[in-house]
Amino acid sequence: MNVIETAALTKRYGAQLAVDGISFTVERGQVFGFLGPNGSGKTTTIGMLLGIITPTAGRIRLFGMTGRKGLHQGRRRTGATLENPNFYPYLSGSDNLRVVANVKGASRRSIDEVLQLVRLADRKRDRYQTYSLGMKQRLALAATMLGDPELIVLDEPANGLDPEGMKEIREIIADLAAAGKTIFLSSHLLLEVERTCSHVAIIRRGRIIRQASVREITTGTTVAELRGAAPAAIASALEAYPESVSVQVDGDTALVELRDDDLAALNRYLSGRGVYLSHLTARQRSLEEVFMQLTGDEEAPALEGAA
Ligand SMILES: Nc1ncnc2c1ncn2[C@@H]1O[C@H](COP(=O)(O)OP(=O)(O)OP(=O)(O)O)[C@@H](O)[C@H]1O
Ligand SMILES: [Mg+2]
Repeated sequence: MNVIETAALTKRYGAQLAVDGISFTVERGQVFGFLGPNGSGKTTTIGMLLGIITPTAGRIRLFGMTGRKGLHQGRRRTGATLENPNFYPYLSGSDNLRVVANVKGASRRSIDEVLQLVRLADRKRDRYQTYSLGMKQRLALAATMLGDPELIVLDEPANGLDPEGMKEIREIIADLAAAGKTIFLSSHLLLEVERTCSHVAIIRRGRIIRQASVREITTGTTVAELRGAAPAAIASALEAYPESVSVQVDGDTALVELRDDDLAALNRYLSGRGVYLSHLTARQRSLEEVFMQLTGDEEAPALEGAA
């Protein structure tokens, strides 16, 4: 079942197309990363999903429902954390959640559950103003979880966190996914998306330039490292190799992008043409490489936050 479905979703601000005809689907149980550099349209898209920003054009379905009433119902099954949630600095974490729970009509029991979930149970009586940024972000996540939403939408949940803080968020998201939640998160951090998400849409200048499972993107094609013969000789021997997508020379190494991962076949093919290798290994492509290839080097989002 598709939890989120958009078709040609568009937002225009004057002359600027912040979101330019985006179509994507998020299925139940996916951890879906919406990955793009600053200003690419992530927050605007999330705002439209949540009904905070009115689309200029296009359609949204939530849980298969659309129209004013349908989307309203869908949004009631959705929890969201926006970039800067408001909490009372003088209240404790659990008192802040009590305020949120009252608004949402969630039970008191669920407050302890969500505090447990975000690993704040032992600090719940401390004032919000004494919390670290990571704890604040986790409290926001806890507030999102009140009311037990099926779909969780997070705008840059790891933004500004140190590696330890990011790891905690990653673990909480993994717990939520294991509990059957569907998660849609935006990020400009490649590594975060690569480690956290099952699926990804890569957005640039308001357009989706690739959408696939993370596995498909990072292992769908193999890059093989070949040494032992002159790289130029390897490159020319591979000109007619059907599984080869491209060959690049990097010093004494030829890097061959393959459609399959059959290195034995590659080796046989080369030796059949008199090219003998001393070194042949597959290198898994990271999301970063894919991103760079798709967008050009200067567009790659930051790689900060490597834990
Ligand atoms: N209210 C607005 N009025 C005019 N332009 C806007 C408005 N909101 C966003 N934009 C523009 O739309 C584009 C997309 O912005 P958006 O905030 O959706 O990007 P983002 O991907 O969330 O970026 P970031 O990573 O910085 O959060 C940007 O160029 C932004 O300047
Ligand atoms: Mg944003």
